[in-house]
Amino acid sequence: MNELETLHQTCQTCQACSLGTTRTNLVFGDGNPNAEIMFIGEGPGEQEDLTGIPFVGPAGQLLSQILEIIDLDRSRYYIANIVKCRPPRNRDPLTEEQDTCIQYLQEQIELVKPKIIVCLGRISACRLIRSDFKITREHGQWVHKKNFWMTALYHPSALLRDLSKRPDTFDDLKSIQAKIKEICPEVYEQVPYRIQK
Ligand code: URA
Repeated sequence: MNELETLHQTCQTCQACSLGTTRTNLVFGDGNPNAEIMFIGEGPGEQEDLTGIPFVGPAGQLLSQILEIIDLDRSRYYIANIVKCRPPRNRDPLTEEQDTCIQYLQEQIELVKPKIIVCLGRISACRLIRSDFKITREHGQWVHKKNFWMTALYHPSALLRDLSKRPDTFDDLKSIQAKIKEICPEVYEQVPYRIQK
């Protein structure tokens, strides 16, 4: 078992916050464990809780479709969330829940070692880029922090609700594609990693 799998196993029994008592499945992460690019959302929704896989519900399906525009699928990226268990009724994860869970994500990031981190939505960007991050003004901007290139996209649930945000997201995707070509062009050159199911 590799270190990421060991961490996954440790998380499976976590009861460090109350979300541990309400989850169906813990949602650890999915995709290429050696990816150069990592996407990070806020927390699992209903479908993710039922399957244990991040971003498989309606928002996740939209995300997969828009990432295909820039030739990215889960063989080329890794995806996870700020919290690993579903907040009841899809409420925002509480600060205490984020504080408790973030150590697992930090370990996960250390093991995957991406060069690029893309935050999905305000909660992820506020947690990982800057606590006063304004998603409406700052989506698509790049910061270099702790050796990672980081940016944020609107959360795909926001794109489901508000079609007027999609053109901006298209521009942000092009910017992500350009950053990949600049700092890790092998992402597009290598034969994609085969995900074992
Ligand atoms: N929204 C998220 O932030 N994460 C998921 O895994 C699904 C929906």
